[in-house]
Formats: sequence, C-alpha cells, structure tokens
Amino acid sequence: MANKIAPSILGADFAHLADEVARVAAHVDFLHVDVMDGHFVPNLSFGMPVIAALRATTDLEFDCHLMVTNPISLFEPLHAAGANLVTVHLEVHPDPRRAAAAARAAGLRFGLVLNPATPFGALAPFAELCDLILVMSVVPGFGGQAFMPEVLPKVEAARKLVDSTGIRVDIEIDGGITPENARQARDAGANVFVAGTAIFGSADPVAAVERLRGAVDG
Ligand code: DX5
Ligand code: ZN
Repeated sequence: MANKIAPSILGADFAHLADEVARVAAHVDFLHVDVMDGHFVPNLSFGMPVIAALRATTDLEFDCHLMVTNPISLFEPLHAAGANLVTVHLEVHPDPRRAAAAARAAGLRFGLVLNPATPFGALAPFAELCDLILVMSVVPGFGGQAFMPEVLPKVEAARKLVDSTGIRVDIEIDGGITPENARQARDAGANVFVAGTAIFGSADPVAAVERLRGAVDG
C-alpha cells in the first residue's frame, strides 16, 4: 500500500490547533490523534470535545491512538466526534477480538498497537482483525522522545506476515520519526509514518512533511 504521512497533533500548538492542521492538511494522509488517560500512560492529552472541534475544520482521516485503559467505552463517543480509525494497545486487550468487533459495530476502522517491550508474536494471531498495525518506536506517553531502532525487527515481522497472508493492513510506526529513521522504517516494511516534533516543531511544517515523504518514497 502507498506510503502515508500522519502528523501527530500532540506536537502542535494547542492554542492554534485548527491553523496548525490547516497548514499541513493538503500535504498529508492521516491526522494522528493521541488520546491519553493519565492511567495507561502517565500523561493526559485531550478527548472528544477537541476531536469534534477539529473535525469541524477538516475532512482528513483521524487515526486515533488510544493510550487508555478502557478504550472500548470510548468507541461510540469517538465515532460521534469524528474519529475514523482507532488503535488499541495489545497490552490493554491481549485478546482483542471483542475490541475489534466493538470498534466495527461503532463504525470505526480498527488497529492494534505494540509497545516497544511487547513482542510481535503477541499480535500475530490477531493481524487479520486489523486495518492497521502500529509499532511504537518510543515508550508512549510523551512527544519528542528518541527513536528506538531496536523495534525495527517487529516492523519486519509485521511486513512479512502481511505480505505472506495477503491481508490489506497498513503498518504504522510512531515515535521519534525523522527523515533519516523514516527511511530505515520504510526499509523494514512500514508504510505509515507518524511524526509530531519533526513536523509541528519545524519552522516550516510543509517542508518537513515533504522531507519525510522524500525519505520514504525515494
Ligand atoms: C507518543 C505518541 C506519539 C507522539 C509522536 O506517546 O503516541 O504519537 O506524539 O511525537 P514525536 O514525533 O515527537 O515522537
Ligand atoms: Zn501516537
């Protein structure tokens, strides 16, 4: 599947969120929306009111990364707020079949996320439930952390499984992505590249998106 760039709004200026998103919207594929509950991760971000407010300003696909202990209870309100796809941590639902069914019943596309310490083997039996597999390249909770290259073998394993079974699943990488390591992640098999700091922390976010795209398409 085609390479996709997904800016993480966690890296944006929350006082000017709609402007930040509008600036890059024509140049990107998804908007990565990090929802944190202060429990699954030691940080809070934002929830339905912010997502709904942003939905009123853009048609971009919202890829909602749920770093929360009770994701299923959020599916319907997230869909009502304008979410398109939700990703659920396998550490929260080691058997994610109920979560996948609930997401689809709520009208959402579904994906699974692996923390750096969680092996790919824990996800493999459930890959066919997914529209997207997200491999974390930082310990989740905060933007601006350094990329962990040691997770790349999991991206390779995911790519191998997806290609050998012929399922249509995006493989996303999230955390500390820059043009340099995005190419490594592309070579390992990723096709969706999340970046917060590298895009919104740049003086020219559009140029930063184009640098990332050049790195993964080149
Ligand atoms: C980390 C989040 C990431 C983060 C990415 O908990 O899941 O999506 O916002 O930001 P950078 O690109 O700054 O690592
Ligand atoms: Zn994320």
